[in-house]
Amino acid sequence: MPVVDIQLGDRSYPVHIGPDLLVDGNIWKPYLSTGNILIVSNDTVAPLYLDDLLITLGDIPSEALILPDGEKFKTMDQWSRVLDTLVEMRAGRDATLIALGGGVIGDLGGFAAACYMRGIRYIQVPTTLLAQVDASVGGKTAINHPAGKNLVGTFYQPALVIADTGTLSTLPGREYRAGLAEVVKYGALMDNDLFTWLESNIDSIAGQDPETVTTMVRRCVENKAQVVAADERESGRRALLNFGHSFGHGLEVLGAFEQLLHGEAVAIGMAIAARLSEQRGLCAPGTHQRITTLLAAFGLPTSVPEPFDASSLLEAMSLDKKNSSGTRRLILLESIGQARIDTGSSDEAIRQAIVDCNS
Ligand SMILES: NC(=O)c1ccc[n+]([C@@H]2O[C@H](COP(=O)([O-])OP(=O)(O)OC[C@H]3O[C@@H](n4cnc5c(N)ncnc54)[C@H](O)[C@@H]3O)[C@@H](O)[C@H]2O)c1
Repeated sequence: MPVVDIQLGDRSYPVHIGPDLLVDGNIWKPYLSTGNILIVSNDTVAPLYLDDLLITLGDIPSEALILPDGEKFKTMDQWSRVLDTLVEMRAGRDATLIALGGGVIGDLGGFAAACYMRGIRYIQVPTTLLAQVDASVGGKTAINHPAGKNLVGTFYQPALVIADTGTLSTLPGREYRAGLAEVVKYGALMDNDLFTWLESNIDSIAGQDPETVTTMVRRCVENKAQVVAADERESGRRALLNFGHSFGHGLEVLGAFEQLLHGEAVAIGMAIAARLSEQRGLCAPGTHQRITTLLAAFGLPTSVPEPFDASSLLEAMSLDKKNSSGTRRLILLESIGQARIDTGSSDEAIRQAIVDCNS
């Protein structure tokens, strides 16, 4: 099974990718020889996969904390519950936290691991496509604050990531498709070969052919590994991974996440960014069309849904924390597979790109 190494000196770790890894004790055992183990999961994922994990752990003592499911529970209260549980267990600095779930559990569990006794070991076991290709790798951990999403958090790398692609079989179709938006993102911004491969494998990807899914996750993690190794704390190149996200976050600020998943908002954001790149003459004509054709083939939206429009989206984007000092800092395309950070788009140009995506 594929293993991708995230190379960060003494914070390096492997990402194991493939089906049935949850029950592959050989991968787990070297990491679980000492200390207490706390598994953090939620009430959707735990009934599906906690037993498998407990069987793998065998007679290694462990406890499980099952949190309520949902982004709205990525809060300080739930984070506190994790810390309280570690205290009650009398967990020491040699304890290990296992985050079993999607990006919400991974972010929250990782942040608890980062804070307890100034940092204990944690293992990411991502069970959504988005978490396998993105959230579980790279060490960004966070919880939400009433004033903003992911407002409280830190960089803290896991010791191990186990992306069991078999778990994706129970993921609701809409969540799987939303994860595909992040997959398309890697192709569009940094990997032309991946983009072409996606275009040629639409049916087997949509049908979740096990070998195809493993290859797809591996190729995305390889891209993320490259970016994270070059810029662990997002002071430069890692910001490219936000391709499509400024518009996506804008939609979120508008409240559209009642109707859009994160990946769906990112899909719309990528479509707008590609259109803008093309209109500004940064990339060749046809780039936007190629991207939206692929997104649409995966069942993803490519234009701003009603009742939102260009004006409200632009205003919402002004509140995005990724905008520095009033300039619109956007990730735009030079070609499929090549992106750049750009501050040269006027509001009028952005407005036009949003309108054109909707026409
Ligand atoms: N740390 C990072 O670098 C990073 C990157 C991207 C996103 N994120 C964060 O990730 C979160 C979104 O992650 P997500 O899309 O995985 O959402 P999620 O964790 O909410 O999972 C989506 C839904 O799928 C369910 N689920 C998970 N695995 C399942 C499975 N195998 N079978 C059935 N149901 C399953 C969950 O319980 C949930 O209802 C956001 O909070 C976002 O901020 C973090």
